[in-house]
Amino acid sequence: MTSSENRGQWGSKFGFIMAAAGSAVGLGNIWRFPYITGQNGGGAFVFVYILCVLLIGLPLIYNEVALGRFTRKNTIGAFRDTGANKFWLAMGAVLALCVSFFVLSYYSVIAGWTIGYIISEFTDFIHDFKTFQATPAYVIPFFGAFMVITILIVLGGVSGGIEKASKVLMPLLFVLVFLVMLRSLTLPGAMEGVRYYLTPDFSKITGKVVLAALGQAFFSLSVGWGILITYGSYLPKDQNIVSSGLWIGFMDTMVALLAGLMIFPAVFSFGKDPAQGTALVFQVLPDIFNSMPTGGRVVGASFFLLLCVAALTSSISMIEVPASYLIDEKKWSRKKAAWTVGILAFIVGIPSALSGGASDLFTNMQIPFFGGTTKTGFLDIMDALFGELFIVIVALMTSIYVGWIMNVKDIAAEISSGSPFFGKKIIGNLTPAILWTFFIRYVCPIVIALVLLSTIGII
Ligand code: ALA
Repeated sequence: MTSSENRGQWGSKFGFIMAAAGSAVGLGNIWRFPYITGQNGGGAFVFVYILCVLLIGLPLIYNEVALGRFTRKNTIGAFRDTGANKFWLAMGAVLALCVSFFVLSYYSVIAGWTIGYIISEFTDFIHDFKTFQATPAYVIPFFGAFMVITILIVLGGVSGGIEKASKVLMPLLFVLVFLVMLRSLTLPGAMEGVRYYLTPDFSKITGKVVLAALGQAFFSLSVGWGILITYGSYLPKDQNIVSSGLWIGFMDTMVALLAGLMIFPAVFSFGKDPAQGTALVFQVLPDIFNSMPTGGRVVGASFFLLLCVAALTSSISMIEVPASYLIDEKKWSRKKAAWTVGILAFIVGIPSALSGGASDLFTNMQIPFFGGTTKTGFLDIMDALFGELFIVIVALMTSIYVGWIMNVKDIAAEISSGSPFFGKKIIGNLTPAILWTFFIRYVCPIVIALVLLSTIGII
C-alpha cells in the first residue's frame, strides 16, 4: 500500500463528525470533568469551563482541523510543510505528539478499569475500588486488553469500523448517561449536589482554576494533541469545517455537563468527598447502580461498556497521531506503526497502572504543581503534566504559529472552503473569517499566556 492509501479518508461529513466527536467524547467527559470540577470548587469551575470552550476551544478546533486539511499531513508534516523551524516543530508538533502518546499510556489504564467494572457487574469480583486498583493481576491484563483492542481497530483503517461504530454507539451513550442522571437526581439529598455543581461561587476563581478549566477544555475537545490536525487531514475539501466544529464542541460539552449532573447528586447523596480526585467516578457510580431497585446490573454493565467504547473512540485517535507520522514520514506500514506505538504506550503505562496502590514508589511519588498544590502518584502526575500543562502549551504555540508565523490567511481560506458563510460579511465589513483571525492572533494566545503566567505566579 502507498502511504496515501494507508491514510484513508472519511466517508462523509457525518462520519467525520462522529469520529471527531468520538475522539472528543471519552473518559475526559465522564471520568475527568467531574473530578476536576470537584477539585476546583464546583459551579465556578463549570462557568469558566464553558467560557473556555466557546472563546478559546472553538477557534482552536477550526484552526487544527483546517491546518490538517490544508497540508494533508500528520502533525509534524503539517508544521514542517508550512515552514516551521526547529523551535515551532518542537513546541507545536513534537509536543502534541508527546501529549497523545503519553496520555494514551495512562488513559488506557483507566479504560482498562472500565472493562473490570463491566465484568464485575455480573460477577461481583470488585468489592471496593481501592483494592481493585491496587491488584496488578487485575489492572495490568485489563489495561493490556484495552490496548490490544485499540491497536486492532487502528489496524482496520480510518473510516470502516470506527466511523460505523461511532454512529450507533455515541447516541446510545447519550441515552445511558441520561438514564443514570435521572437515577442520580432522584436520590435522597441529591439537590445539595446540584447546588454545588451549578451555583458558581466566583470568589473561588483563581489562576489555578482557570488553568484547570482551559486544560480540561483542551483535553476534552481533543485540542492540543495533534488529533484534530490528523483527523482534519483525512477530511475532503468540500466538507464544512465550521458546522462540523460546532457539532463536535456541542456534543462534547453536553456529555460533560450531563456527566456532572450524573455524578454530583450521587456524591452528595452518598456522603462522598467531591474533591477526592481520579477515583471519584469509579467509587460513586457502582453505588448508584446498586441502589436501583431493579435493573441496576444491566444499566451498570451497559454504562461501563459504553464508557469503554467512548474511551476506545478516543484512544484510537491518540494512537493515530504518532502512527500517521510513522506512516507518512517513515513509510512504515499501518500495521507496524500501530503495533509499535501501542506496545510502547503499554510499557510506558505500567507505572501508571501500578500507581493505585500496587507499588509504593509509583503510588506515593509526588511533584509540586501550580497554585501550591501537590500531585501524588504516577498517573496523577502524568495527567497533570501531559493532560493539563503541556496541552495548554501546545494550544498556545499552535495559535501563535498559525496566527503569526505562517500565513493565517491560508488557514482562514481553508476553513472557508466548504463553509462559504465563513467569508461572507455579517456586520459592515466584518466576516466570521476576520473574527476568527482576531481570536487566533490575539484572544487565544493572550488569554492562554496570561493564565499560564498567573498560574506560575509571574503576574
Ligand atoms: N478528548 C478525549 C476525552 O475527552 C481524549 O476523553
